[in-house]
Amino acid sequence: MEHRNHRDKQEYALVTGASGGIGLEIAGALAGRGYGIIMVSANADRLAAAKARLEARLPGTQAVAVAQDLSLPGAAQTLHEKAKALGAPVAVLVNNAGFGITGKAADTPLAADEGMLAVNVTALVGLSKLFLADMAARRRGHILNVASKGAYQPGPYTAAYFASKAFVLSYTRALRYEAKEAGVRVSALCPGAVDTGFFEREGQPVPKGALPARRVAEKAVDGLMQGREVICVPWTVRLLPLVPEKLRMRVVAGMKRP
Ligand SMILES: NC(=O)c1ccc[n+]([C@@H]2O[C@H](COP(=O)([O-])OP(=O)(O)OC[C@H]3O[C@@H](n4cnc5c(N)ncnc54)[C@H](OP(=O)(O)O)[C@@H]3O)[C@@H](O)[C@H]2O)c1
Repeated sequence: MEHRNHRDKQEYALVTGASGGIGLEIAGALAGRGYGIIMVSANADRLAAAKARLEARLPGTQAVAVAQDLSLPGAAQTLHEKAKALGAPVAVLVNNAGFGITGKAADTPLAADEGMLAVNVTALVGLSKLFLADMAARRRGHILNVASKGAYQPGPYTAAYFASKAFVLSYTRALRYEAKEAGVRVSALCPGAVDTGFFEREGQPVPKGALPARRVAEKAVDGLMQGREVICVPWTVRLLPLVPEKLRMRVVAGMKRP
């Protein structure tokens, strides 16, 4: 297990999308392993409430809330500068913030797709690059990028979201290859359905059998600390490519069609 007090200094994990859902639970799992937590989301009120919940659950946790809308141009650079200004060495970066959009590609507003791609893809790439450079200089660190089971196939009526997660998985695996020689470990998380506010934001019901976010987060952090390349929760997500893709696309279309 990694320890926070390596080199006698409190180490921090920066978790984007830590105001709720999977991100807040990943923050809790990392705090439980002794990391200080830099919690990031766009909504300052939700973030403050999440920070209070984390501190109540795990007294003694060093937590800092940093409000940052990751859909804004230059957001990754701005957040990196804010983190630097805290003087808190970031040993773990969790790129978790993200959301989905459902509907016919021809009908959903372009601005909504652009905002989603800015968060799910552009900010994730920017933060990965900037923090990887810092970690490589220290020859130490972990990056966890949250993809999805949707990374393994095209998703009709949620096309740009599934494509964004395919990007995250591909990018993360390539980054891992490059980062290895710098002593930095990079992992991807591919969850199936998880019971969070994700579906409400998408305008969809929570699917039956959606997993509790805490269970997913514990598995994610275990996998991260073990240095696994792709962490699938449940593990059966890994078997998806064995099912004919046309069939999988029909299932998603059936769920997401407006
Ligand atoms: N739930 C699932 O079934 C599922 C499955 C596979 C993958 N995932 C992925 O898991 C990740 C976490 O999702 P979740 O299920 O935990 O959903 P969630 O409960 O809706 O949490 C999403 C988080 O992202 C943050 N966020 C959204 N837009 C942002 C922006 N512009 N700037 C900064 N932060 C922003 C939200 O913060 P604020 O709203 O406070 O800004 C919130 O903390 C996402 O990447 C999602 O694609 C989810």
